[in-house]
Amino acid sequence: MKISVAIDGPAGAGKSTIAKLVGEKYNLMYINTGAMYRAVALKASENNLLPEHVDEICNLISSMEMHFENDDLILNGENIQEKITMPSISSIVSGYASLPEVRTILVKLQRDMSNKFDVIMDGRDIGTVVLKDSEFKFFLTASPEERAKRRFRELQERNLECSYDQILKDIIERDYKDTHRATDPLRKADDAIEIDTTNLDINGVVNVINEYIEKGK
Ligand code: CDP
Repeated sequence: MKISVAIDGPAGAGKSTIAKLVGEKYNLMYINTGAMYRAVALKASENNLLPEHVDEICNLISSMEMHFENDDLILNGENIQEKITMPSISSIVSGYASLPEVRTILVKLQRDMSNKFDVIMDGRDIGTVVLKDSEFKFFLTASPEERAKRRFRELQERNLECSYDQILKDIIERDYKDTHRATDPLRKADDAIEIDTTNLDINGVVNVINEYIEKGK
């Protein structure tokens, strides 16, 4: 039977770590849709294109071949995972992701992937738009402070200079933009299971999700 799993939630809720682990267990291809929006932001900014340059951005996307290898995003043959997860991209990505024209193109690419493979996808609109017929939908949350703490630790482990206060501010701003945009804002799908991860460790969250999948298979 073809399975698809949708995981949504705000920045730093642990979506990607958890999606990778659940994906490994059930042999699902992990599709990090945020990485695709980040790739658009990276390329647009390298080409000095602001979010108002919609036509140019759409042209640029048509020259971008994106696929995942070992959970890393490969763009036109280059592994860009390091570059797209820099704080400088986190702080600009939501502006590009709010463009309906950009979303239409990326959602189509994501649906094409889900038609070809059994997938676990994480993002902001997976349960509501991209995989709205998925039988397994989860919405992960955590307090902004806890999410900022997690992101701070991740960046420190990569030896990147960062400040907790700045990360918290960025996360709060990005949450606001992602939940208030006109097209496909971040929201819990009515049929998604909400998991507050503030006081749960990774295994705790993975176990909750695995139990639902085992019950529903
Ligand atoms: O990893 P993190 O939680 O920081 O965010 P991400 O999943 O990499 O997503 C980066 C940004 O892309 C989000 O803040 C959204 O603005 C946008 N995004 C989106 O609009 N729709 C998605 N399905 C995934 C990401």
